[in-house]
Amino acid sequence: MSSDSIPRHVAVIMDGNGRWAEGRSKPRYAGHRAGIGPVRETVEHAAKRGIARLTLFAFSSENWGRPQDEVSRLMGLFHEALQREIDELHANHVRLRFIGDRSMLRSGLRQRIADAEALTAANDGLGLNIAVAYGGRWDIANAARRLAERVERGELKASAIDEAEFATALSLTGEPDVDLLIRTGGEHRISNFLLWNLAYAELYFTDCLWPDFSSREFDAALAFFGSRERRYGHTGKQLGVA
Ligand code: FPP
Repeated sequence: MSSDSIPRHVAVIMDGNGRWAEGRSKPRYAGHRAGIGPVRETVEHAAKRGIARLTLFAFSSENWGRPQDEVSRLMGLFHEALQREIDELHANHVRLRFIGDRSMLRSGLRQRIADAEALTAANDGLGLNIAVAYGGRWDIANAARRLAERVERGELKASAIDEAEFATALSLTGEPDVDLLIRTGGEHRISNFLLWNLAYAELYFTDCLWPDFSSREFDAALAFFGSRERRYGHTGKQLGVA
């Protein structure tokens, strides 16, 4: 695979944990726990393939509506995984960033997230973004409010708000747009993930349930990406590819 066919930014909706567990007559949280191995493998593989940014959807704004026990176990799992993996991520030069509404998280997890971000802030390897308590509409509404506050304070003119200025107020400020979105679990939806950043992403859907996702599956998604012609609204002829 040539380096220009490698996406700079890959985003993943990790779906299918519940069904994976139910298919084995196990409780749903067993599926979430089984999803940690593929997270690890995906992070390692992204670094190996030279991908610059990887953004994983771990918990959506809507997931708060799940049964209390499942939510609580998922939060416990994030806390535990972060505690266990942070040293190795740091040793591998990964820069970790969390996006989402942190005010919704327990203070212990919030603190661990802040510590992990501070520890890895200067790393120059893979940029790993984890979306927790995240929603694309929340992100856009948040950005609009931040910009409006700057206008109210007289720091910004309303007429200066264009796409580039707007993007500075989003969670993934300064990050390249998503090139490739992978969704496991068979659904063909974006489910309120990075609505702004996915504008020109290639979309790859697989029936593979997240706990079964592997570097082989990841390579299949990368091969799909490599076969796509990206036109950004232009014609193939204009871009010299047709
Ligand atoms: C969706 O599957 C998955 C989640 C809501 C949680 C994702 C969490 C992990 C993969 C655990 C590890 C993550 C990190 C970042 C350490 P689902 O429950 O909606 O599955 P279903 O569609 O089969 O019900």
